[in-house]
Amino acid sequence: MGGNVVFLISSMLLLLPITFASDMERAIMVIDGARRIAETDENFVCATLDWWPPEKCNYDQCPWGYASLINLNLSSPLLAKAIQAFRTLRIRIGGSLQDQVIYDVGDLKTPCTQFKKTDDGLFGFSKGCLYMKRWDELNHFFNATGAIVTFGLNALYGRDKSTGNAWGGDWDHSNTQDFMNYTVSKGYAIDSWEFGNELSGTGIGASVSVELYGKDLIVLKDVIKKVYKDSRTKPLVVAPGGFYEEKWYSELLRISGPGVLDVMTHHIYNLGPGNDPKLVNRILDPNYLSGISGTFANVNRTIQENGPWAAAWVGEAGGAFNSGGRQVSETFINSFWYLDQLGMSSKHNTKVYCRQALVGGFYGLLEKETFVPNPDYYSALLWHRLMGKGVLEVQTNASEYLRAYVHCSKGRAGITLLLINLSKQTTFTVGVSNGVKVVVQAESMKRKSFLETIKSKVSWVGNKASDGFLNREEYHLSPQDGVLRSKIMLLNGKPLVPTATGDIPDLKPVRQDVKSPVYVNPLSISFILLPTFDAPACS
Ligand SMILES: *[C@@H]1O[C@H](CO)[C@@H](O)[C@H](O)[C@H]1NC(C)=O
Ligand SMILES: *[C@@H]1O[C@H](CO)[C@@H](O)[C@H](O)[C@H]1NC(C)=O
Ligand SMILES: *[C@@H]1O[C@H](CO)[C@@H](O)[C@H](O)[C@H]1NC(C)=O
Ligand SMILES: *[C@@H]1O[C@H](CO)[C@@H](O)[C@H](O)[C@H]1NC(C)=O
Ligand SMILES: *[C@@H]1O[C@H](CO)[C@@H](O)[C@H](O)[C@H]1NC(C)=O
Ligand SMILES: *[C@@H]1O[C@H](CO)[C@@H](O)[C@H](O)[C@H]1NC(C)=O
Repeated sequence: MGGNVVFLISSMLLLLPITFASDMERAIMVIDGARRIAETDENFVCATLDWWPPEKCNYDQCPWGYASLINLNLSSPLLAKAIQAFRTLRIRIGGSLQDQVIYDVGDLKTPCTQFKKTDDGLFGFSKGCLYMKRWDELNHFFNATGAIVTFGLNALYGRDKSTGNAWGGDWDHSNTQDFMNYTVSKGYAIDSWEFGNELSGTGIGASVSVELYGKDLIVLKDVIKKVYKDSRTKPLVVAPGGFYEEKWYSELLRISGPGVLDVMTHHIYNLGPGNDPKLVNRILDPNYLSGISGTFANVNRTIQENGPWAAAWVGEAGGAFNSGGRQVSETFINSFWYLDQLGMSSKHNTKVYCRQALVGGFYGLLEKETFVPNPDYYSALLWHRLMGKGVLEVQTNASEYLRAYVHCSKGRAGITLLLINLSKQTTFTVGVSNGVKVVVQAESMKRKSFLETIKSKVSWVGNKASDGFLNREEYHLSPQDGVLRSKIMLLNGKPLVPTATGDIPDLKPVRQDVKSPVYVNPLSISFILLPTFDAPACS
């Protein structure tokens, strides 16, 4: 285009001063409604199911119970309803033990037995069996609940430990091929097959060199081609499901070659070990939360530069590792981290974000065995229902304690803001002024910040009077009794708990005149829907 580019900033939010005794901050927020800075998958929210047996413990706690794929109670009505509430929920099946799972189908060279605790096994467990009867039950369950399934395959099958934690030798694809063939013959829909878990780079527990891994992906792609030859659509190839290391990730794309890897997955556990006393402070520290944004940016860059055919997904993210933080991960406070992650990752072109775990550990969205939702479950559900694919740029001069993310609304006009208030002292009111257009010249944006530019070049070009009578919808989230580590989350002041009939409660907004101020309380989270916000990038 060259020359001057005209940006239309379709509306402005003004943060107006108020007269509370607490600290107060005057700020503005500017949203660029003309351009999508990134786009997520339609089903961005994803949750994981793991293999850990009840004997899995960390720090003298054993928080898995019957949350494994092997023993999860699939007849629980609340579990099914919790998934169905999404209509379509992505579920990623995987975790540390996936590279020790044998599928009980075809000609097996070793007996297929259940996982057992053993000192000489990887992660303290023996190899374990997935019986086809259980696989049938799981697929009926996934089909009935509308789950979109990513299945993590055993990438160590046929391999042996060589030196240190490195595993060598050829991957034996026979068990995977027989398993896939069985799956296809039964008509089970698998969206994507993921290869290996945390074996990339230095690896967690075990590692496989990128030279071998890249070749394995070519083999896997071939197996899928063969097994799905009569299918109209082929499942995606996903890998490596490990921690991002620039060199290893770049090499994987280069060695596997164009069009082989469809999705590049990486894991996020940026809060530290589950027993770390600093978890709470980290979650409330904006600098700490932002610390991980470089990883999202690097993953995007690595893909764009080495394999632009691949999409970036967070394949597993639990916040705190080793089963999560007790009285942290399953409480309201964790939603500051979780929703901030959803916002931050989608800005960096992440298409899907899988939360560890749907159930199991302290980080389960659902409580193990009862399946009663924890606060993050409702955060996930609200995001899934409200936040559309289009990600918009938002600039603010508010303090770093107020975090803002804006998406096109899902399935309806306008935009939705996610406002996360980490501040303990400052109360803001947000006055929303809709329908105001601002024209900015691009040239002057090179050096000055976007906001500086707005200040100096602002010109008001219109105001839609007709918008004035419409309502916006607000979803305010806070902890019960103001206790940040409460397991009960309030939506607009009312506790979110399953209904007397055992259903997931309705998530009802409060409605306000678009022109009235938005109140967002200290240490709280709000979704604000602006149905009349004129954002061309969203239509
Ligand atoms: C943000 O900008 C508005 C409008 O220019 C100004 O009134 C306010 O003081 C600024 N706030 C901060 C924290 O700089
Ligand atoms: C599974 O859930 C169903 C329905 O709630 C219950 O009747 C059954 O006893 C549970 N099974 C086990 C093994 O806990
Ligand atoms: C469930 O299975 C039926 C029959 O195979 C199929 O038509 C339908 O698309 C499946 N639903 C889901 C959500 O996979
Ligand atoms: C799938 O299984 C069928 C029936 O056992 C067999 O004929 C076919 O060769 C298998 N296909 C692959 C790709 O393994
Ligand atoms: C992704 O990386 C490319 C190449 O570095 C860059 O042009 C693009 O802006 C990035 N996208 C996002 C959303 O960060
Ligand atoms: C953030 O919380 C502070 C701390 O209490 C409060 O004073 C401020 O109004 C809140 N800001 C927003 C935008 O909610």
